[in-house]
Amino acid sequence: MGKGKGQAASGGQGFEHSPVEELTKSQAKVELTRLMFDLSQHDQAYYQEDAPLISDAEYDALRQRNDAIETRFPELKTANSPSSKVGAAPAEKFIKVAHARPMLSLSNAFDDEDVKDFRERIKRFLNLQDEPLAITAEPKIDGVSASLRYEQGKFVLGATRGDGQVGENITENIRTLSDIPKEVRNNNFPDVAEIRGEVYMRHDDFAALNQRQEREGKPVFANPRNAAAGSLRQLDPAITAARPLRFYAYAWGEMSALSAGTQEDMIEQIGAWGFQISDLMRRCESLDDLLAQYHAIEEKRATIGYDIDGVVYKVDRLDWQGRLGFVSRAPRWAIAHKFSPEKATTLLEKIDIQVGRTGVLTPVAKLQPVTVGGVVVSNATLHNEDEIARKDIRIGDTVVVQRAGDVIPQVVSVVMEKRPKESEPYEFPVICPVCGSHATREVDSKTGKAEVARRCTGGLICPAQAVERLKHFVSRNAFDIEGLGEKQIEAFWAEGLIKSPADIFRLEAREKAGEISLGSREGWGATSIANLFAAINMRRSISLDRFVFALGIRHIGGATARVLAKAYGSLGALREAFRLGQDRQGDVYADLLNIDGIGEVVAEALLEFFAEPHNQEVIDGLLNEITVEDFDMPDEGSPVAGQTVVFTGSLVRMTRNEAKARAEALGAQVSGSISKKTDIVVAGPGAGSKLVKARELDLTILDEDEWLHLIGGSVPE
Ligand code: IVH
Repeated sequence: MGKGKGQAASGGQGFEHSPVEELTKSQAKVELTRLMFDLSQHDQAYYQEDAPLISDAEYDALRQRNDAIETRFPELKTANSPSSKVGAAPAEKFIKVAHARPMLSLSNAFDDEDVKDFRERIKRFLNLQDEPLAITAEPKIDGVSASLRYEQGKFVLGATRGDGQVGENITENIRTLSDIPKEVRNNNFPDVAEIRGEVYMRHDDFAALNQRQEREGKPVFANPRNAAAGSLRQLDPAITAARPLRFYAYAWGEMSALSAGTQEDMIEQIGAWGFQISDLMRRCESLDDLLAQYHAIEEKRATIGYDIDGVVYKVDRLDWQGRLGFVSRAPRWAIAHKFSPEKATTLLEKIDIQVGRTGVLTPVAKLQPVTVGGVVVSNATLHNEDEIARKDIRIGDTVVVQRAGDVIPQVVSVVMEKRPKESEPYEFPVICPVCGSHATREVDSKTGKAEVARRCTGGLICPAQAVERLKHFVSRNAFDIEGLGEKQIEAFWAEGLIKSPADIFRLEAREKAGEISLGSREGWGATSIANLFAAINMRRSISLDRFVFALGIRHIGGATARVLAKAYGSLGALREAFRLGQDRQGDVYADLLNIDGIGEVVAEALLEFFAEPHNQEVIDGLLNEITVEDFDMPDEGSPVAGQTVVFTGSLVRMTRNEAKARAEALGAQVSGSISKKTDIVVAGPGAGSKLVKARELDLTILDEDEWLHLIGGSVPE
């Protein structure tokens, strides 16, 4: 995100984290949900309201934390994950433009091991044996990405990335950049060509711009990237023209003809067409080569003259890039290897405890503001009570704060020499600071270990939890009621207007009956009230998956809600299943566990939720007000959409991973085991017991070529 003012971090984010590698699966799930909401709130604030709540770096860190957790637990990734969205929805003030090809983002690598894994993953996916795997390495420029479309050699459209699918039309602004050809006359320039790259500002130009701003009494920019973003998103192109922006090309979108077979040759060709390209790109055959190029680029960081924040690696062969494809927003064939985090020391003034939707008590360090890598940080995560104890962090300590690419700012250690004599170990509260209920740590019945998180036991009597649940209920991926965001929920709650979800849908009737008076609230005129009611009424019908997600059941993210919706089809069937499923010996329970994506933890959370009479009341209350639509199978165009597919035996044409990815992309569900619910079994040489079972159950069995034929895929060479 550009243009943030680098202001202090806001509190209230999902700080319930330990280092990613220490998270349990259930903690990871809780945190991912939390991150999804935080990020969508920040996207809204930044992109729609131009009023960021946190700094760019803090935003990036949240996103990266999300990605890091998803990388560790890929099965927890939901369809609504922030990682499936690139950037955010475009701001309203520019005209929207749909990208002919999505503008992808990159996943991150933070150390040599991650890079090694990246290479290994690719080799496995493509089933490479002794064939050399060439990967290019080039600087990751810290600017703003843009797509430039040329038709018949003429520059016709410039767009920002936006959410990756739809960006903003900034053609006239882009036209003012001297680095960008307005016309390309080379014979081999395709009729349609989209050149993609980074708009950035050099350090010297940035300093001069800021001096000028200061002289003219205008605000100065926090860093070159913010300056570039701010300059590019000017409604008046004359302002952009006066800003020293440059452009590096490193990728492409739609091309009516491809002029080369490798990344390196393509970029060189783009350079020959008159675009600036990096002269630090190298083609590397081995892991050692890649890492050597990483260090070579890192060494140039201080003198290169513009901000770079890592090195991007890309599989050189374009046919392999095609086969590797992408997962949600990031290509499998590329990764960004980030430079090391930056650190600073400051005073820990106090520790705040926040209570989340599921009751987790999260400690947040309130710091004397300090600049870490160009960004002012005043809050940092302390993860959890064990972390505080392990590092012996105390109020009044001088602490080392780190702002890494992969996590939100965190307190890494204490400067013991500076510890005040009278300091005392920090005592983590065992009482919820919001409702006064006991806060306990659940013990895992299997491992006998206490959960890392301490939770308030107050449930819905805890205002923090009740309010958080309501916020979740109206959030973007749930009911998504325009004009009823977190702030309004808090205010309505405080005034007793909304206590449970159904109350939202009763507001209008109660207002009309004179029971309540929204009109007497400050700042609320007839129009805003009418708008709110209209927005609420728009949501009186909702899809089953959104509804299930909105209930805020522990461990149920968007993807799991969808899986459930798909499996049961209607709310009636779903409730009946959870009623019968309470019998852990019965078939219905077994069926639940058989659903791909539903494990024991999720099943228990569901059954627990539905066993609670209060929750049933919430649902009944809602059903008096709204309709929950039955699940509609998407992507009916694909012959395998909605089908459960099992691959067994070895595949010859492609790896198992590749086959799975393709099937899923076509809307199929891939399962590891055969059951009555399996629709198609794809059996290759060496298939054993699964094939036997499939025959017993009389299932549809295809060989690999028949399967490829069915999905209409060409048989790869
Ligand atoms: S390639 C298909 N190469 O980093 C992959 N991106 O964090 C498209 N970026 O969205 C991106 N330098 O804005 C690529 N040499 C480079 C880059 C680069 C900077 C930016 C770009 C991208 C973001 C991902």
